[in-house]
Amino acid sequence: MNARWIAALAAGVLAATRPGPPSLAAEPVPVERLAARRAALFDRLGTGMAIIRSAEVRSMAVHHPQDSDYREDNNFFYLTGLEAPGATLLLVARDSEADQAILYIRDRAELSRLTGIRDIRPSAGSEAEIRSLVLAARSPARMGGLYLQREQQTAGAWDRVEVEDLEPGMAALRLVKDGEELARLRRATDITTEALREAMQAARPGMWEYELEATIEYAFRRRGAERVGFPSIVGSGPNSTTLHYDKGRRQTRPGDLVVMDVGAEFGYYTSDVTRTIPISGRFTPRQRQLYDLVLATQQTAIDSVRPGTTLGELNRVARNYMRRHSGKLCGRSTCDRFFVHGLSHWLGMDVHDVGSFATPLAPGMVLTVEPGIYLVDEEVGIRIEDVVLVTEAGREVLSNAAPRTADGVEREMLGG
Ligand code: GLY
Ligand code: MN
Ligand code: MN
Repeated sequence: MNARWIAALAAGVLAATRPGPPSLAAEPVPVERLAARRAALFDRLGTGMAIIRSAEVRSMAVHHPQDSDYREDNNFFYLTGLEAPGATLLLVARDSEADQAILYIRDRAELSRLTGIRDIRPSAGSEAEIRSLVLAARSPARMGGLYLQREQQTAGAWDRVEVEDLEPGMAALRLVKDGEELARLRRATDITTEALREAMQAARPGMWEYELEATIEYAFRRRGAERVGFPSIVGSGPNSTTLHYDKGRRQTRPGDLVVMDVGAEFGYYTSDVTRTIPISGRFTPRQRQLYDLVLATQQTAIDSVRPGTTLGELNRVARNYMRRHSGKLCGRSTCDRFFVHGLSHWLGMDVHDVGSFATPLAPGMVLTVEPGIYLVDEEVGIRIEDVVLVTEAGREVLSNAAPRTADGVEREMLGG
């Protein structure tokens, strides 16, 4: 080996041992937050028990042959901050005595410190113990997803107990985000808008949809996102008009529009942002007219976000605006006929997050606003989607960092 090689090798070893940048990955949920969430659930329960199981480990053989990525059950994570297969959380809310939290879990090291739950017990034998605690308490038992399903399957096991579904109560809690949840949603959204900007800068006619998708998902992971919150949608030309297109196998052609509907998941919270770009860098005059109508519709709906209104009312506002401003753009029909999906959904631990659509908006709720126009015959699909936080004063758009106007998108594609 010559000296040059030895020097190169040494440099390689040095580079490998030099400390890298600090980790960007999500930190644990602060224990005071977890305790406050459990206290809020105790308040709702009044008296009774709640039983929340952790997620099942996905079986490589049966469930997800190509996916062994463990993701915790949302409600279990919300209340414990843990990823712990085989665990059960039992919450006992009483009138006369102090509320009680018991965590049944396989590996108990460190867990009191992480969760703020003092009573931690081994999960072996927990089913029988929980059953006898519930029977002895003679109060209603609220059960979450997996537990409730199992209860329904094993007829008789809970015969003498009043069993209720825990989900509506959990959904009401999760609908209003606490500070820790908002910090995670902001981070997930920042990561997503940065990735969209990188994709806008990289986009060229002739690229394959999967190349744009890979650009976006690489940008997610490089910033500490654990995974995508939902399969990335990158649809060009005819595929821009397919709502949940996630094949990503078409090669783009000059003049195509590309719908990029993506969301990074960070610390169990997912973003959901859509931008539509002209692959060649410039909208045609017709594409721009349609784009501007979608944008103005979206802005009208965003301006209407405030405490007390509802998702249904926002949807009406958006459709009315689009109808009244269509002119002849969409032929004999008005363009709202081609706005073929809902305007909004709740956003949080899931992309279509829990919570009733009828709930009036209140500060701390997070929704998407995402109008679109899809003209299949012209191979033109346009959707613009942003993440909106409801505030006392009205609203804050969390995803503003991704250019949204036609000019802004074109400028970003030229290199920012
Ligand atoms: N990305 C799915 C949706 O926008 O609802
Ligand atoms: Mn959405
Ligand atoms: Mn979306």
